[in-house]
Amino acid sequence: MQEKIRMNTCVIGLQWGDEGKGKIVDILAEDSDVVVRYGGGANAGHTVVVGDSRFAMHLLPSGSVRQGDICVIGNGVVVDPECLLEEIEVLKGQGITLAGRLFVSENAHVVLDYHKLEDRLREESLGKGRIGTTSRGIGPCYADKIGRSYAVRMGDFLELTALKEKLASIVSYKNKVFLAVYGAGPINVDELFEKCKVYSAKLGIFISDTTELLHRLDSDGKSILFEGAQGTLLDLDHGTFPFVTSSNSSALGMPAGCGFPAKKVDKFIGVAKAYTTRVGAGPFPSEQDNDTGQYIRDKGNEYGTTTGRPRRCGWFDAVATSYSIKIGGIDSVALMHLDTLGGLEEIKVCSSYRIDGEEQSVFSGNPHKLARAECVYESVAGWEQDISPVSSFEDLPKAARDYVNLIEGYLGVPVHIVSVGPKRKQTIFR
Ligand code: GDP
Ligand code: IMO
Ligand code: MG
Repeated sequence: MQEKIRMNTCVIGLQWGDEGKGKIVDILAEDSDVVVRYGGGANAGHTVVVGDSRFAMHLLPSGSVRQGDICVIGNGVVVDPECLLEEIEVLKGQGITLAGRLFVSENAHVVLDYHKLEDRLREESLGKGRIGTTSRGIGPCYADKIGRSYAVRMGDFLELTALKEKLASIVSYKNKVFLAVYGAGPINVDELFEKCKVYSAKLGIFISDTTELLHRLDSDGKSILFEGAQGTLLDLDHGTFPFVTSSNSSALGMPAGCGFPAKKVDKFIGVAKAYTTRVGAGPFPSEQDNDTGQYIRDKGNEYGTTTGRPRRCGWFDAVATSYSIKIGGIDSVALMHLDTLGGLEEIKVCSSYRIDGEEQSVFSGNPHKLARAECVYESVAGWEQDISPVSSFEDLPKAARDYVNLIEGYLGVPVHIVSVGPKRKQTIFR
């Protein structure tokens, strides 16, 4: 029998999210013992397809569908308890149980109803300037975390007397703000506390010190898989601010989000589509707001997993993706949705930007500059063949192989995985 190689791996989105991280994590989870979510919240929607079943994971790591794995939700995640309970129930309905193998950090912050309300009210009030958030309360919850005084953490569900007092102070503050700024409210603190009692009763068994747990599992020689949410270009510090999410969704957020050092991760795998998509507002230089974009949207079923919104679609942006690889220390790439490009006569790759008349191949997160960036493209021939049943790289049409090699050349790291469909078996390992 071949001995299992122990390895810690981190999977990171290299674009603006929805790259296909869920599928890759599910595949890698087969050889992992532990799967970890360390950032973001229920704004994420990670799709896992197992046979005829399709799971949309929002808070639980995508590897949770593998019954044997230990599942960790780290301190960097903002947990919507209602959403988590629902997800646990959905899995239970499919015969997948989490008792005894799910661990939620006591330090993870909690998304409550007033966060979701504030997210919606703020976006509505911004009108044209809105970010296009998922309305999951993500920004307001992370803002409370940074602000410290009005924050609730998962560990608070284990101290209900103290939580009651804390909620009274938070709600009193929030109600003043909601009324003054939005003419909204008030939130009923008693109703909120009753809900928290239910969360406490149902989720209490999962709450623990996950940092200590991860280090213990690592010492025991377990293979740990870290699952990034969102994508590098949505990173709060390193993405296309302000059109970003409120966490460090690049690889840089991993250590802080679970208390485990990046230097103990053996491999960072970046996930990118063979084209680019984005949901919500913000600059998108290679966007194709035309028939080509619509072709990709239809063929790739590019509608949000969390909100159902149509995703904006465009050509592969080698400038932006190379930047994500650079700041994330990415070792290898999984290139997704190659099948979706089939049937296009010509395929383009954005190889550099022209900004204010100057050509540059260095990505700029500066929103003003990026909004003025025009893409310089390299055009290559497409292929007609349906490649979704293909299982080896050699069996792909020459134009498809050339396209993958072209992207690899731009990125400077190997494309080890090519995906040609949502199913596990539609995956080519090189
Ligand atoms: P994530 O957020 O990065 O996990 O990605 P999403 O699940 O939001 O979106 C990816 C979508 O593409 C899902 O519907 C997947 O089932 C699907 N998918 C993943 N890989 C492929 C692929 O190679 N080809 C096609 N056609 N669909 C894919
Ligand atoms: P996964 O993990 C795609 C986008 C939103 C919006 C911006 C801010 O499935 O790849 P937020 O609700 O986080 O305050 O919204 O970020 N966004 C995502 N886009 N995939 C995601 O997650 C996203 N999570 C947030 O559309 O533009
Ligand atoms: Mg998604």
